[in-house]
Amino acid sequence: MSRKFHVYGNWKLHNNAAASRALAQAVVEATSAFRDAVVTGMAPVFLSLAAVREAVPAHPHLKVVAQNGYPAPKGAFTGEVSFALLKDAGCDAVLIGHSERRQIFGETDAFLAEKVPAALAAGLEVVFCVGETLDEREAGRTWEVVGRQIDAVLPKVDAASRARLIVAYEPVWAIGTGRTATPAQAQEVHRLIRDRVAQLWDAAGAAELIIQYGGSVKAENAAELFACPDIDGGLVGGAALDAAGFAKIVAAAAAIRR
Ligand code: 13P
Repeated sequence: MSRKFHVYGNWKLHNNAAASRALAQAVVEATSAFRDAVVTGMAPVFLSLAAVREAVPAHPHLKVVAQNGYPAPKGAFTGEVSFALLKDAGCDAVLIGHSERRQIFGETDAFLAEKVPAALAAGLEVVFCVGETLDEREAGRTWEVVGRQIDAVLPKVDAASRARLIVAYEPVWAIGTGRTATPAQAQEVHRLIRDRVAQLWDAAGAAELIIQYGGSVKAENAAELFACPDIDGGLVGGAALDAAGFAKIVAAAAAIRR
């Protein structure tokens, strides 16, 4: 199996440009020993992307990631930023469909099915986020919800772009709550996602797909999560705001031999 671990930090609405630059520099330094083993990403706010780009050396395993983007290339869309502009600003990747976008900003499956192909067409890598709420999990509807989110978007990804798509499974009840999915809970959904992608794409595409887990990943639980066969790294929120702690998560991934 050739899948490399991918550990990305989602900084959400934190850090001005100077603080983002300093954090990026610290992350680059603290993770340098793992650079061959782990693909590492950082997602600052739009206004800090340029500072982070300057702080992060060009390297295939270091990714500057935007947190959002808009599918139209230009036009009367006040307040939006296109994927082409993100690419122009030096972004390597973009998060799409984060649960905060879905829940707070009302982004629908149909809208995300427009955004993901548009971002890929602009040349970006896409981290497409899926996950169920606590109510949905407790009602036994986890796979109904996650499967629907996958089915809405993955068929829209053309074969030539598949290698640039990452899926992040982020159970909403585990985001920012300190409550992490158990490795068994996460592995179960990751396996279901991979099996479904094998049907939607093909077996080879599913075998190569990077599936990150997100939801209260921290240095203390990263190793047991990453030991699961279908968990290919993490999308880290709060614990990514501290370079030393984030580097421990990257180190946990680097230590696993597949
Ligand atoms: P936390 O790691 O803070 O739970 O956030 C996860 C997340 O939303 C990453 O995108």
